[in-house]
Amino acid sequence: MAIPVIDFSKLNGEERAKTMARIANGCEEWGFFQLVNHGIPEELLERVKKVCSEFYKLEREEGFKDSRPIRLLNELVEKKSGEKLENVDWEDVITLVDDNEWPSKTPGFKETMAEYRKELKKLAEKVMEVMDENLGLPKGYIKKAFNDGEGDNAFFGTKVSHYPPCPHSELLNGLRAHTDAGGVILLFQDDKVKGLQILKDGEWIDVQPLPNSIVINTGDQIEVLSNGKYKSVLHRVMTSPDGNRRSIASFYNPPLKATIAPAPQLVEKANQDDLEIVQAYPKFVFGDYMSVYAEQKFLPKEPRFHAVGAM
Ligand SMILES: [Fe+2]
Repeated sequence: MAIPVIDFSKLNGEERAKTMARIANGCEEWGFFQLVNHGIPEELLERVKKVCSEFYKLEREEGFKDSRPIRLLNELVEKKSGEKLENVDWEDVITLVDDNEWPSKTPGFKETMAEYRKELKKLAEKVMEVMDENLGLPKGYIKKAFNDGEGDNAFFGTKVSHYPPCPHSELLNGLRAHTDAGGVILLFQDDKVKGLQILKDGEWIDVQPLPNSIVINTGDQIEVLSNGKYKSVLHRVMTSPDGNRRSIASFYNPPLKATIAPAPQLVEKANQDDLEIVQAYPKFVFGDYMSVYAEQKFLPKEPRFHAVGAM
């Protein structure tokens, strides 16, 4: 079993209908799919890999040696209790958004990542348009919902993560299992070092590394907007004793003030088709959802929807 791999360039040719259907399947059955020929220049992706690896070496590696996961792991190993570390991730991470301060010591990092983020944001918007069409929503519906109406209000962030080699990978995860809180997530993962897994039909399966592909996944807000037609899927990162996994995840989210609710067209349709709606999604303010998420990220998502509905 492998995550669907979809040639995005085929949207513009004879195979458009087939490609649309493959993306619909990726959204409905998997919550994850990989795009190739997505239009992001290879040359840019090569530069992104280079500056991020250099950034880790130059600005992060030393600090990670002193980090909380290392300290906790050392304590645990000393205790020899046989316990696992359940409350920490073996991850080094920084988040880039337009208005925070970016690392500046690594030559080319800022410029390259700014260029990359611009391209990825455009790709996110294209992917959302495909979702609009597949869901039978007016063109631009999801983008508008995630921008709280007209204008450029979406929250677009990029997490640059590294998962360094872990001497006791049996004792903790790189990143504990969770679903993503936001909208559409675009992941540029390591060419070689795997580690990302998704839960599919009760089984953890690898998101297979595929050089220069972009992995797309749907977050909790897409699940709500689509009235449960698209699911936000549990995923985790495993640690490994060798290889430093690089992972660059960009997320296209609503701003905190946005109101999110299932698209009325889809609720109506579900009622007409007399579908039994197993999951009820409330209407809520995204910022309230994020407050719940901050406390419950590593717990099942359903209680989050209930909690925010009651606010
Ligand atoms: Fe995630």
